Amino acid sequence: MRRAGRIVREVLELVRSRVKPGATTFDLERAAEERLKELDVKAAFKGYHGYPCVLCTSVNSEVVHGIPSPNRTLKQGDIVSVDFGVVVDGYYGDAAITVPVGVIDAKAARLLKATEESLKAGIAAVRPGATLGDVGAAVQGVVEREGFSVVRDFVGHGIGSQMHEDPQVPNFGQAGQGMKLKAGMVIAIEPMVNAGRPDVMVLDDGWTAVARDGSMSAHFEHTVAVTATGASILTE
Ligand code: MF3
Ligand code: CO
Repeated sequence: MRRAGRIVREVLELVRSRVKPGATTFDLERAAEERLKELDVKAAFKGYHGYPCVLCTSVNSEVVHGIPSPNRTLKQGDIVSVDFGVVVDGYYGDAAITVPVGVIDAKAARLLKATEESLKAGIAAVRPGATLGDVGAAVQGVVEREGFSVVRDFVGHGIGSQMHEDPQVPNFGQAGQGMKLKAGMVIAIEPMVNAGRPDVMVLDDGWTAVARDGSMSAHFEHTVAVTATGASILTE
């Protein structure tokens, strides 16, 4: 899983370097797909329940599962969430980043920072004996302290020889509640955070989830192993 995680990170950093005003979300898809071909590695998302691409690219008020398109040109001030996974020798890695396009406004910058910090706080809560409620509460605490909202309709997940395994890993909850983590478990923690209300809806393409109120939304994700002493981030 560490090998899968390393490749996920390499491709996400390649994609980050291609984000600029004038690029399309399909340019990002093409860059990722080319690198996968060079590495001879299989993408996790393409073909998953019929999903058509190797990346999910979700712009501004799109929360998750945006489909790359040659008609979607990024412009200065946008934010784009890029979600990506691979399978290597039967084991999965999954991670996401939200990238600013050129210079973004102060509120969008705060949203990105809060979302990434909430993921860090969730990871910091991971250790044997901690509960999923501890993780969710840590994420939610950071998000709400910054005045933003945690999306409830999508959650993180266990990951291993399948991309999505039990348990579900909510980005909200109460400390002390829920399943206890044990060393050797691997989970994907993936806060989706809206600048406005938490409500989302799925567009007619059947995939793209957007913030109902049209507010900006950010997404960061890591695949994280529970170790004897804490957590090891496999997609760092
Ligand atoms: N990384 C996402 C997840 O954790 C996205 C997968 S959805 C797909 O669930 F359909 F695009 F694969
Ligand atoms: Co995931």
